[in-house]
Amino acid sequence: MTAVFDTLSIALAETSDPPLLPLPADVAALLADVGAPPRLVAHLRAVHDVAAQLLEWLGRHCPGLTVDRAAVLFGAATHDIGKVLHTGELSGPGARHEEAGRELLLARGVPPELARFAGGHASWDGPGVGVEDLLVSLADKVWKNKRVADLEDLVVAELSRASARPAWQEFLALDEFLTAVGDHADRRLAWQATHPLTPVLRG
Ligand SMILES: [Fe+2]
Repeated sequence: MTAVFDTLSIALAETSDPPLLPLPADVAALLADVGAPPRLVAHLRAVHDVAAQLLEWLGRHCPGLTVDRAAVLFGAATHDIGKVLHTGELSGPGARHEEAGRELLLARGVPPELARFAGGHASWDGPGVGVEDLLVSLADKVWKNKRVADLEDLVVAELSRASARPAWQEFLALDEFLTAVGDHADRRLAWQATHPLTPVLRG
């Protein structure tokens, strides 16, 4: 039996509509190992791609902002991994996947500073939330063109602090960029939706 939607090809194969960066190879192997459903792998790839776009823009727009790029990319690529254990949360609401995802990653030897994104990607107002956490949360919204004002305000504050430009100016710049990213949301959503919620097997 071979899965029609092979995890590694969803994670790594070239795509044209939309063009998406491949997931990191180590994350792709981990997703295959834990039997991640095709829809989840596709979702993680879409959010990882948007996170990479965010980082690329930040590097040009605000080079003074210190960001652990590898942590953001890993966080985006794994944030919903707990949905392997709570598959109902792939298509419906629920937060059980958050702590479950953090624990899954820790059990696989991922250090806490990288496993934290799986546990914390849905909240951004607690203590200890850094710019990396904000960027993973933002990518997980903007990939589908969902705009969250309080989350974006926190990112604007980070930009303004790092650039010494006024917040209104950073708000306008971020808004313009996020609007452009959101313009491609329909293509990402359509691509993700072609991937089934459960593995499809053929004999
Ligand atoms: Fe997500």
